[in-house]
Amino acid sequence: MLDALDKLPDDPILGLAAACRADPNPQKVDLTVGIYMNEEGVCPVFDAVQLAQRALIESETTKAYLPPAGDADFNRAMQALVLGAGSTALAAGRVTSIQTPGGCGALRIGAEVIHAAAPGATVWVSDPTWPVHIPLLGSVGLKFETYRYYEPASHGVNFSAMLEDIRRAGKGDVVLLHGCCHNPCGADLSLEQWAEVATLAEQQGFTPMVDIAYQGLGDGLEQDAAGLRLLVERLPEVIIAASCSKNLGLYRERTGASLFVTDSPARADAVLSQAQVAARRVYSMPPAHGALLAGRVLNDPDLRENWESELQAMCRRINGLRTSLVSKLQQCTDRDFGFIEREKGMFSFLGLTPEQAQCLRREHSVYMLDSSRINVAGVNGANIDYLAEAVGKVLQGH
Ligand code: LMR
Repeated sequence: MLDALDKLPDDPILGLAAACRADPNPQKVDLTVGIYMNEEGVCPVFDAVQLAQRALIESETTKAYLPPAGDADFNRAMQALVLGAGSTALAAGRVTSIQTPGGCGALRIGAEVIHAAAPGATVWVSDPTWPVHIPLLGSVGLKFETYRYYEPASHGVNFSAMLEDIRRAGKGDVVLLHGCCHNPCGADLSLEQWAEVATLAEQQGFTPMVDIAYQGLGDGLEQDAAGLRLLVERLPEVIIAASCSKNLGLYRERTGASLFVTDSPARADAVLSQAQVAARRVYSMPPAHGALLAGRVLNDPDLRENWESELQAMCRRINGLRTSLVSKLQQCTDRDFGFIEREKGMFSFLGLTPEQAQCLRREHSVYMLDSSRINVAGVNGANIDYLAEAVGKVLQGH
């Protein structure tokens, strides 16, 4: 049977990270996978997470399964983190959520629930979007359309084209939005634009689904969730996939949450039952360790303060790297890279051709995606000159 299978191509993101790991060049620069790296090029464990982990190990008395919806303290903390402690939707009891294996699990459970509610639903995704959105949601059986989003010429969002496209989405359709720090382009909607999307959702009846994998890494925890919260306060339904990979550094612990904002507590209950049955069908119950750590960090005032200040420092560092990168690239090229400073989060497109991105890998051991998406957090004081010079050489055809 298995002889019917061909070898598939490498994953466009993870495959390049593996190629970089295998590259013996000591000057190599890894700008591939979206993980936060510090000045030493290490993806660190948050201090608050270390402390929570020690306390958990000392007090943990069982490894029995969590329930399919996961840990209740974690779920409550995630609802408040994403929606804001003062959310009227939360106070009205019209929100439910389920702990998931990472943000991917959250997207998958969201897709399962969408499919149960509307098997013929079309999901509208931005052009471009994170490449894994399509297989993750598509394998459930949902269909796709794309809406225009990033405009390479202006290095920004073509909002009028976006509105024109999503105006074609109707009731029973889903419009997938990036809550902040758009992956792959880093170009986000303004709050006024989120309000226009909300108005269109009211008029057309589509359900927004928001993937918020980078809350806290753009402008801050509250600012990054402002667009999503605006939708939640105005609309009867919003589906949210949240991740603790980046903002709590729990990447390998696979910790996330699927949140469902509905029009009533009774509907929230019904949706929760659907999400739980979907989880049971797909993986039964979520892994415990990461969520127990996240729950402690989010719910304990001292750990929370410690975490928030470390996260703010990361966010400031990324924004500082954006400024430094612009000035280094301006020195080494005759292009205007000022757009990098206007974008948010870990990612930006450098605006290179796939051939130029491949040449950077081959000739200089600088690894970015073929789309020229870079992980800004992979830049540091030791590699920024080398990186800018390599980009300059490739742009001059060397
Ligand atoms: C990325 O886009 O690099 C991250 O979201 C990691 C991944 O799983 O692709």
